[in-house]
This record gives sequence, structure tokens and C-alpha cells, in this order.
Amino acid sequence: MPIRVAVVTGSNKGIGLATVRALCKQFEGDVYLTARNVGRGEAAVKALNSEGLKPLFHQLDIDDLNSIKTAAEFFKQKYGGVDVLINNAAIAFKVADTTPFGIQAEVTLKTNFFSTRNMWTVFSEIIKPGGRVVNVSSMNCVSGLKKCNLDLQQRFRNENITEEELVKLMQRFVDEAKKGEHKERGWPDGAYTVSKIGLTVLSVIHARRLSKERPNDGILLNACCPGWVRTDMAGPTAPKSPDEGAVTPVYLALLPSGAKEPHGMYLSDKEVQLW
Ligand SMILES: NC(=O)c1ccc[n+]([C@@H]2O[C@H](COP(=O)([O-])OP(=O)(O)OC[C@H]3O[C@@H](n4cnc5c(N)ncnc54)[C@H](OP(=O)(O)O)[C@@H]3O)[C@@H](O)[C@H]2O)c1
Repeated sequence: MPIRVAVVTGSNKGIGLATVRALCKQFEGDVYLTARNVGRGEAAVKALNSEGLKPLFHQLDIDDLNSIKTAAEFFKQKYGGVDVLINNAAIAFKVADTTPFGIQAEVTLKTNFFSTRNMWTVFSEIIKPGGRVVNVSSMNCVSGLKKCNLDLQQRFRNENITEEELVKLMQRFVDEAKKGEHKERGWPDGAYTVSKIGLTVLSVIHARRLSKERPNDGILLNACCPGWVRTDMAGPTAPKSPDEGAVTPVYLALLPSGAKEPHGMYLSDKEVQLW
């Protein structure tokens, strides 16, 4: 039997690191901690080593297409593909940050939506039959969708929305944010929120495509919210620990062999949420 392999993006700290910790304990196979910065990644591996865990490391900056391709090629050569992919890497500007909103929109959408999309464009080629793909989104996508105008809500909820249409909508948000027009055009006033709406809708689209193009491969792809978690992103007052935040992503990553669902869903606390 070939060795199975799990890959977690942005896992040198926070929920990603906790996800690697849990997978090291529960996943039967090799677990890759990945980070854009090699020093931070190797330090995180050492920290887990001191807990008796043995993750492996590979550099992976999702904002860099070459880095994504290099990593995918490595996993293809060494393992024949990937069994579990958790797209966890993301960024969020702090509320107090004074960077102009248009720039915040561009930078946030780049990593959280466009680069995560690039991850799947490349890794969909190497995801193995029986694979599990988890896109770490946010509860902000639920409240944010309700704050979109009706036209946008209908487009995002349309089960026939295409990837091209979604990409155009995300780009439109960035363009309108740069002109300071996003609110009057019906968008919620949060770049992170819009990026996570985009990621959740993208997950629905990618799951639909997997069902159509690889109907017999049993690959399950879902989005989830980890909850409100004490990390550098969310701050020290959040109720959940990183290990608690990792529970739903890990649950989706370890859905048993032969499971047919959930697929193309958005979950929090291990439950499918309607949104
Ligand atoms: N914390 C919460 O309450 C909460 C709630 C809902 C959803 N989430 C989601 O949960 C996920 C993890 O968040 P977190 O709270 O653990 O945040 P975090 O502590 O800020 O960690 C984010 C991780 O993503 C990495 N990253 C950022 N840009 C990257 C890139 N271009 N390539 C590779 N890695 C990159 C960071 O690396 P560096 O160390 O190099 O910056 C870091 O390892 C995110 O998707 C976030 O949106 C979090």
C-alpha cells in the first residue's frame, strides 16, 4: 500500500498548527506542516517534535504559483498525489489597521480567495481517489452573505454559478472597493468577509465539478468554520483554543473511506449549516 499523505497550508501557527498536531495523532500516513517561511515552519516542526510528534515539512507560499507547483510536484513524485488537503492559510487586517480599504480588499482577496483557488487549480490534478479537501472558511460568510444586496445574494446562492462568474464577482468587489463604491454596490463592508463568501461558494463549485468529472473517485470537498479561536488572527479573548478550532477541519479530513457526504457543504461544529 502506498503511504498516505496529508498537507495543511499555513500551518506554522494557529489553527493550522493545531490541525497538524491532531492529524499527527489520528491520520494514518505522513503529515506535512507547510509554511511560506522556512524558518517559521521548521520552528513549528521542532515544537511538535518536542511533543513527541513527527510532522514533515515542505515550503508552501500560496501567494506564489511557483511555490504551489513545486510543492505539488514534490507530492506527486514522492507519494503519487495527495490524500488530504487542508486549505487553511489566510490573512486578515486588524480592525485598527489604517491601510486604505481598497488595498485591504486587494491584498485579502488575493490570499484568501485567488491564491486558495490557485491551490486547487494545481492540487486538483494530484488529489487521489478517496481524497478529502477542506477549505477553512469563516462564519463571517454566513452573516456577510445576508448583508449583500439581493442581486449578489441570488448570484452567490445560485446552484449553477460558474467559477468564472464567481471570479468576476470577487474582482468586481476589489475594483469597487478601490473606488470607494463597494457599499453602494451592495457589498458588506469587510474584505475578509467577502473573501470567505467567495471561498465558500468556490467550495460548492469545486465539489460540484468533482462529482461531475470524477464521479467514481469518492473525493469529498467541503468548507468549514473553525469557530472563534484564540490565534494571532482573532486575538486572545476568543473562546476556543487552537486545538478546539481544529476539530471540524480534522473531522472533514478524516471522513471515513466510502463516505458519500458531506460534500460541497459548509460546516461548523461538525454540523452542516445552511447559508
Ligand atoms: N481564529 C479564528 O477565530 C478564525 C475564525 C474563522 C476562520 N478562521 C480561519 O482559520 C484559518 C487559520 O486562521 P488562524 O486564526 O489560525 O490565523 P493565524 O494564526 O493568523 O495563522 C494564519 C496562518 O496562515 C499563514 N499564511 C498567511 N498567508 C500565507 C501564504 N500566502 N502562504 C502560506 N501561508 C500563509 C500564516 O503564515 P505566517 O506565520 O507566515 O504569517 C499562518 O501560518 C484561516 O483560514 C482563518 O481565516 C479563523
